[in-house]
Amino acid sequence: MENDAFLKERLKLDEQVMGIADKNIKRFYNLDSTVYKNGVLSALTKEMLGLVSSLVLRCEDCIRYHINQCFNLGISDEELSEIFSVGLIVGGSIVIPHLRKATGTWNELKVNAKNNFDKKSTLTFLQNQIDIITKSSDSKEKKMQEIVVLLDRFIPYYDWTGFYLSDSEQKKLVLGKFVGEPTDHKIIPFGKGICGQSAETKEVTLVDDVLAEENYLVCSLKVKSEIVVPILSDTNIFLGELDIDSHKKEAFTQEDEIFLKEICQKIAKIF
Ligand code: SME
Repeated sequence: MENDAFLKERLKLDEQVMGIADKNIKRFYNLDSTVYKNGVLSALTKEMLGLVSSLVLRCEDCIRYHINQCFNLGISDEELSEIFSVGLIVGGSIVIPHLRKATGTWNELKVNAKNNFDKKSTLTFLQNQIDIITKSSDSKEKKMQEIVVLLDRFIPYYDWTGFYLSDSEQKKLVLGKFVGEPTDHKIIPFGKGICGQSAETKEVTLVDDVLAEENYLVCSLKVKSEIVVPILSDTNIFLGELDIDSHKKEAFTQEDEIFLKEICQKIAKIF
């Protein structure tokens, strides 16, 4: 709960600062938030820069703040490690105590994301974050990676989350960015399995119990239910799909379906 306490305290003290702030302080605060928004550089890249600068300057609160922002925009563990490396090489070994705390915060965030799961508020939060990601200047591939990381990170029963992209000429699906166990199904012909069904019908395919589904390609024996949501262009062309497996039977509700459809509409715009 250390991180939650930090965020609460930060908010409370900012309110107090605003209580005494003159025009100049308010302007500076405003600048501080607008500078990190999507621009030529994506919001995510700017947060990485903020994190490196904070590590080098050894500002504990600033590091913690940017760690939160990086986490909420889908930075992966591997990316975090490289950000830390840059901070360490520029700042030197005096940065090491800060790396310890930053790693602790990162791990705490991971645990909190799963433990504090509240479906309604988490889905609303993710819609907002995915909106920022899809509107950024990052590449299509990078955006898709950020999105699967976020879905996996914040929704406890999403146990394999990935994209399949359409090869319409060959009538097959090609595995894209994913988080979860590696799969043998890197190429899936249209019509085959749950993924192939959505490619053919251009509809959502929701399977509550994969063992009861005849047209199913086994990915892992742990998987109990699956949902596939097509990504369609404005003119209803099939571009690809979002595939999610759960280790729980009947894991996906109508709320998930609506949420995932909305995300896929946003994703369609990046193709
Ligand atoms: N189960 C899928 C295959 C893909 S894996 O789940 C990643 C299907 O039946 O199409």
